[in-house]
Amino acid sequence: ETIQTDVAKKAAGEKAVEFVKPGMIVGLGTGTTAYYAIVKLGEMIKEGLDIKAIPTSAGTLQLMHQYGIPQTTFAEVEKIAVTIDGADEVDLDFHMIKGGGGALMREKIVAQASEKVVIAVGENKLVRHLGKFPLPVEVVQFGYEQTQRLLAKLGGPAIIRGAAHAPYITENENYIIDLQLNHINNPIELENQLKSIAGVATTGLFINLANVVVVGREDGSTTILH
Ligand code: A5P
Repeated sequence: ETIQTDVAKKAAGEKAVEFVKPGMIVGLGTGTTAYYAIVKLGEMIKEGLDIKAIPTSAGTLQLMHQYGIPQTTFAEVEKIAVTIDGADEVDLDFHMIKGGGGALMREKIVAQASEKVVIAVGENKLVRHLGKFPLPVEVVQFGYEQTQRLLAKLGGPAIIRGAAHAPYITENENYIIDLQLNHINNPIELENQLKSIAGVATTGLFINLANVVVVGREDGSTTILH
């Protein structure tokens, strides 16, 4: 099953790079699907493609170094032309859950700075309703117990990621609380509720941020949804 899933991810990731054109500033996502886009971009750069990219995580920056993709930063650029990223769930309105890999804050900052966000997913990520995948919520460490209590009131277990051993710490020095809601009826309303909690740094709900969804299948085929 792992191998089949990788075929779908690879197909989607490699197809998504078709949206990258010479001279563009590109946002690069995090995760196993974005990985395939990064490798493909590295090949295109070797063949002369001239782009610069902003990574959404230390892991992605590391891959950029490995595959020869030049870096830029928000100190130098104000707009990203195209961002390519993965997702944990995508619904029919293109709202998403992201952050399974913990990079949600930087992914959201990069997505909001992008003229076009291309999301590459295996078809298993497409859902009618968000929420089966636990919603990652990034919270500041101060008072996280209280933030956890407030989050638990939203209707499902609120679990500190990694808590059994040592809490997972994001690249922004925060914790992640995974909210198991199972069925999110109104993602926009939920996002507003979550953002009104002071200890919430950001949420894995990506509302109206995806412009294009590239779906990969286990036979290697892809479909582009707009
Ligand atoms: C990283 O924080 C996440 O938002 C990823 O984009 C998401 O988990 C998708 O990852 P995969 O492509 O590895 O499934």
